[in-house]
Amino acid sequence: MRLGSMNFAQRLSYLQSNVFGDMDLAKATSQRGIIDLSLGSSDLPAPPLAMAKLHQALDDPATHGYLLFEGTAPFRTAAAQWVERKFGISVDPQTEVLPLSGSQEGTALMPLALLDPGDYALLLDPGYPSHWGGVHLAGGQIHRLKLQAPDFLPDFSGISPNVLDKAKMLVLSYPHNPTTGIAPLEFFKEAVAFCQKHGLTLIHDFPYADIAFGGYTPPSIFNADPEKSVSLELFTLSKSYHMGGFRIGYAVGNPGLIKALRQVRDVTNFYPYRGILQAAAQALSGPQDYVTESVLLFQERRDACVQALADIGWYVPAPKATMYLWAKLPQHYSGSSMDFCRDLVHKTGVALAPGSGFGMSGEGYVRFALVHPPDVLRKAAVAIGEFWHGSRQQVGG
Ligand SMILES: Cc1ncc(COP(=O)(O)O)c(C=O)c1O
Repeated sequence: MRLGSMNFAQRLSYLQSNVFGDMDLAKATSQRGIIDLSLGSSDLPAPPLAMAKLHQALDDPATHGYLLFEGTAPFRTAAAQWVERKFGISVDPQTEVLPLSGSQEGTALMPLALLDPGDYALLLDPGYPSHWGGVHLAGGQIHRLKLQAPDFLPDFSGISPNVLDKAKMLVLSYPHNPTTGIAPLEFFKEAVAFCQKHGLTLIHDFPYADIAFGGYTPPSIFNADPEKSVSLELFTLSKSYHMGGFRIGYAVGNPGLIKALRQVRDVTNFYPYRGILQAAAQALSGPQDYVTESVLLFQERRDACVQALADIGWYVPAPKATMYLWAKLPQHYSGSSMDFCRDLVHKTGVALAPGSGFGMSGEGYVRFALVHPPDVLRKAAVAIGEFWHGSRQQVGG
């Protein structure tokens, strides 16, 4: 790819746009005070006990150097025990866990370990942007599994033999961002059997393992593949423990897959700062009422936002999990989801994420991230109502 006098790799042409970057620019050019509901970045504080560990570590020069794999053992043990406690699956911290700088790193690097150029990855559409980006980095091809209301689960039956012959990996992620769909264990069993039959690796990106409401517990992929025969699951401290800025997550899975991911990761980086690993280990192994309380807060926000939107005539289903609402654009609105979000942020300061930023099948929807308290969400809904009625007149409806 040639840009001006410089030559760049062809793969860069696939990485031109990014939903968060596009909305960042739209927010920066809005003249209004921004209510930012476009990014799933929690506004809640990280657990105090974890932060105390980090403070202690900062004062200890022994934590300041590079960290290699063996030094991450205490974190890996805490992560393995967390998975064992939550899902009843035994995990070997030495061979089945890899620390990551956020789960996004795992989704972006795993294709480099699995795909040769031209191989296919089966990805959910809509889906999380790093799932696509990682496949492009690896020179792979993407087969889109279109997700549709009401259940937002993919259908494996329509994939052509040509694609299946060259397919090496399937990426799932439930509870699902952005659609908020959830996957029953039966579906995971079907997906594992499909991957076993066709020789695929199953990557399950699982950031919302804890963010579920009304007694619902999302299953782990290992509840469907307890032998870890084909699966690797990605966890993060960004959502349950509000530590997104610290960039800490981990992969758990089949030892061969963990080893392959480690080989790729070790080229790109050392391991995260010891203080962050100590804080994260504390969060994972300390009291979990902190998590329970923040899930209740997200539930309150969900209910407040669904109600406030209904009050302006926008009917959005209340999800069983995640920190999002996935809202169909009003019928009278004739523009794209990006037009809607750009227009909305310029006229009201309310920033949402356009569905198209998560893939073609996201067009016609926008995503609300519930990252503000209920009163702010209500204020945003009122502003949207005013915009909506304004735009209805403009659209002539
Ligand atoms: C599906 C999905 N994967 C990965 C991430 C990124 O998580 P992390 O902060 O662990 O990189 C997110 C964040 O919103 C997400 O929704």
